Amino acid sequence: MTQYSAIRAPFLSFKENPFTNGDPLSAIHYEEDGLVIIKNGRIISTSPWSTGKNALEESTTIESYPNQLLIAGMVDTHVHYPQLPMVASYGEQLLSWLNNYVFPLEARFSDPEYARVIARSFLSELLRAGTTTAAVFCTVHPESVDAFFTESTKLNTCMVAGKVLMDRNAPKNLRDTAQTAYDDSQALIQRWHKTGRQLYAVTPRFAPTSTEEQLNTAGALLAEHSDVFMHTHLLENKAEIAWVKELFPHRHSYLDVYDKAGLLRPRSILAHTVHAQEKDFQRCHDTGCSIAHCPSSNQFLGSGSFPLFQALKTDRRVKVGLGSDIGAGPTLSLLQVLSDSYKVAQGLNTSLHPIQGLWLATVGGAEALGLEHQIGNIIPGHFADFCILDPAATPLGSIRTQSASTLSDILFTLMMLGDDRSVSATYVAGKKVYQR
Ligand code: GUN
Ligand code: ZN
Repeated sequence: MTQYSAIRAPFLSFKENPFTNGDPLSAIHYEEDGLVIIKNGRIISTSPWSTGKNALEESTTIESYPNQLLIAGMVDTHVHYPQLPMVASYGEQLLSWLNNYVFPLEARFSDPEYARVIARSFLSELLRAGTTTAAVFCTVHPESVDAFFTESTKLNTCMVAGKVLMDRNAPKNLRDTAQTAYDDSQALIQRWHKTGRQLYAVTPRFAPTSTEEQLNTAGALLAEHSDVFMHTHLLENKAEIAWVKELFPHRHSYLDVYDKAGLLRPRSILAHTVHAQEKDFQRCHDTGCSIAHCPSSNQFLGSGSFPLFQALKTDRRVKVGLGSDIGAGPTLSLLQVLSDSYKVAQGLNTSLHPIQGLWLATVGGAEALGLEHQIGNIIPGHFADFCILDPAATPLGSIRTQSASTLSDILFTLMMLGDDRSVSATYVAGKKVYQR
């Protein structure tokens, strides 16, 4: 017998991109008392409760969230699961922060049991924050990837992840070689790519920690596997950029280092890209790669302000998603990342509307990962990955919500005051995996 389930709640879906027309409100569909019906892990219909309720089978289980808001599960386009235990480490910028805090911790992930424990905590924290899909750095150890995908498979979450490639300028116990990077990545792609909802990303850490030979190896892996992802860092910090210039004097730019290695294409994710020039954005647009905007991390490490609205210029739009970038970012909550996005945009004399913010956290992230036909929106055919938001979850949220007069006002309140406490439940493929 077919098993249906349903959720009755106000819900918000996107009809179009709210960055490309005048009024962001016209990009959404908002149903004040809505009904979402689920079958075999997917959405099969959305409607007002008043019309949809008559079509419900008698055996359908219905959960209700009045006065809350059902949105698509959020999508984090850049995060490091192994860095969860060193989040909020004091006082450094990127390069010394990596040496002092990140590398010593990542060395522990040669131990599969430690990797499993941290992967489990990380995924449970993600779901508590309302995030159901993420693009995730593991460490150089293949064991760290097996541990992560094993735990993700248990939850049936759609995750993009991969083994870090790093054959120079890192401690010896964290280095691979061009050859082992190739062999290990091949084996991991065979084992995990498209196994259930798991997806593989070839993951060179960043230009300074890979030789040109290794970057070419990464390009060869992409050429052999047309639908795997690529995930790296780009143009994050001024000292890093100067170092790349020294290491690759024959390249036109930092982006050109990746370009010449064959790393730029759809489903390639470039984290940060803070100090991009117009020609970098143009090249990202032309090659179809995506940028993970990580404002919380960029502020924490003093990296700079990403010009979001320049990246999204409509005549050569670059795909952009949001990244928490734990552990340089101090939070996994994309609501908090959105609050930082708003403040950074204000500093550049631009305003991020809450509907644009919610789009970035859902559809935008899905699009940046090339998964917009499966996740990121509340439409029939999509996976039933949901986040239920409660605008009045905290005392301040409650006071502020009572004086909110419009939907935009409530959404902006969530974006500025919300965090993991605002998530009252999270669903993965129709199954409730977190309840506050
Ligand atoms: N660049 C190279 N590695 C890292 C990392 O682990 N975090 C951040 N934020 N930037 C990086
Ligand atoms: Zn990162």
